[in-house]
Amino acid sequence: MRLVLGVGAGIAAYKTCELASRLTQDGHEVFVCLTREATRFVTPLTFSALTHRPVSIEVGDEPLGPISHVTLARTADLMVVAPATADLITRLAEGRADDMVTAVYLGMRAPVLLAPAMEAEMWSHPAVVRQVEQLRGDGVVFVGPEDGRLASGLQGRGRMSEPTRIRDQIDRLVTPKTLQGRSLLITAGPTREFFDPVRFLSNPSSGSMGTAITREARNRGARVTLVHGPLSVPIPDGVDAMPVTSALEMEAAVMERAAGADVIIASAAVSDWRPKGRQSEKVKKQDAAISWEMLPNPDILARLGRERARAGQILVGFAAETGNVAEHGREKLLHKQVDLLLANQVGYDRGFGPAVVDGVLLSRTGADQPVAGDKPTIARLLLDAVEQLLTT
Ligand code: CTP
Repeated sequence: MRLVLGVGAGIAAYKTCELASRLTQDGHEVFVCLTREATRFVTPLTFSALTHRPVSIEVGDEPLGPISHVTLARTADLMVVAPATADLITRLAEGRADDMVTAVYLGMRAPVLLAPAMEAEMWSHPAVVRQVEQLRGDGVVFVGPEDGRLASGLQGRGRMSEPTRIRDQIDRLVTPKTLQGRSLLITAGPTREFFDPVRFLSNPSSGSMGTAITREARNRGARVTLVHGPLSVPIPDGVDAMPVTSALEMEAAVMERAAGADVIIASAAVSDWRPKGRQSEKVKKQDAAISWEMLPNPDILARLGRERARAGQILVGFAAETGNVAEHGREKLLHKQVDLLLANQVGYDRGFGPAVVDGVLLSRTGADQPVAGDKPTIARLLLDAVEQLLTT
């Protein structure tokens, strides 16, 4: 992907260096345009070293040969302006073209994303509010600003979004909307089965697989409802998140929403048991061994398969296996009556958290496919397979 990264004159420009570096490392072509005043905060050399490409300031600069402002605007997949200061926002809204950033902006027909950064009083001033409304009306998308510590040292709304959040919005803007109009229900994370107020049975699931699928489905334009246990990773923006704790709560939340979903993806690591008789007081320590009766939890995915809340609904499951991965996976696919099932190897030090997945994607049609990669990659493969089922 080719990106133009416009940089305004704000101290948040130091965070834009991080953004430029990440985008470059991910294999994107990043062309940076600085305003003249921005060069007082960060140098062109900083960005050319990070992106391995010439940086431009004036309209006459030629990172891509003569009339580069036109070439850049016509060939870029996206323009990002970060930080977008009050002055730069105003110049963009007014259609000025007196430096490279504003000139490229006027030629852009691909999406433009602005990450504002300024003092809270400036952001809420009617003069800035007017220009932001103007730009929104012109089709510009905004990310942030956020509440937090500002350049002045004061707290307020005006802090530029972090590079990871801007990155997330970039992915969202450039991903083709192949799931537009579709409704996805996704379960993620572990459940906790408390037996007294401070102790519970659970597992090491972080929710990273479920949130990666959620993010990718959202990027593809789907409406996503995420029913999740306690996660150790952030919930993506722009989805309907429903937090639950126990398997019974997860079951109730899922069944209530199942009929509204075109696709249900069960990536949660649901506890198979819950302690019988939850104590209202903390159980006191004793020297003797303790045993606790466990009741089986309902299998949410199997119930979804049995009841199929909606004709044509696609049901996707996971199988976490410590051995005979494909064989056990196939048994689960048949037994739980699901359409797709990703079976992967887990162990004491494997399968949970951000690590790489190495497994097999089993399909009811028999088209099995080995899959390997990090969780965002697996999420893409999985949703490609879902899309194929939706169109057949
Ligand atoms: N699952 C579920 N409800 C449960 C248990 C599992 O919805 N009570 C779903 C998981 O979200 C996953 C799939 O079923 O999509 C398989 O989960 P897994 O833990 O691999 O299998 P189990 O059915 O629990 O079988 P076992 O623990 O015996 O391997």
